[in-house]
Amino acid sequence: MAHAPHLPRAPGAALLAGGSGLIGRELAALWRGPGTLHLLLRRPLKAGRHQQVHLVDFQHLPPMPPAQDAFCCLGTTLKTAGSPAAFRAVDLDACLLYTSRCV
Ligand SMILES: NC(=O)c1ccc[n+]([C@@H]2O[C@H](COP(=O)([O-])OP(=O)(O)OC[C@H]3O[C@@H](n4cnc5c(N)ncnc54)[C@H](OP(=O)(O)O)[C@@H]3O)[C@@H](O)[C@H]2O)c1
Repeated sequence: MAHAPHLPRAPGAALLAGGSGLIGRELAALWRGPGTLHLLLRRPLKAGRHQQVHLVDFQHLPPMPPAQDAFCCLGTTLKTAGSPAAFRAVDLDACLLYTSRCV
């Protein structure tokens, strides 16, 4: 988790990249609001209470919604990704791009 001082301010709101995964789903389930948890995902997912889904391309991220904090639960494995380059694109490049937009 990171405090996100350079995002447009929205007290109590947070961003979560990778909210469809094992860790991300657990984190999202803990969200109680009242601020919005913005789920940044590559495919649709039913949003919970106080949550909003944003479908994004993690190689070309749009401007981030206003938030106070940011969580990153993105990740893959070499086996799932299929190649070192594809693994790096998720575990390094996508995570770095996302966090660079947040802090
Ligand atoms: N699970 C553990 O016990 C554990 C322990 C220590 C560290 N970690 C680390 O924590 C991170 C998350 O783990 P996890 O177990 O929650 O993984 P996971 O269940 O595989 O979830 C990975 C998340 O990343 C997203 N993702 C993967 N490839 C993507 C791509 N090419 N483009 C966009 N999104 C992509 C997935 O989206 P989709 O749902 O769309 O595929 C999902 O939201 C990983 O870096 C992992 O190494 C996990």
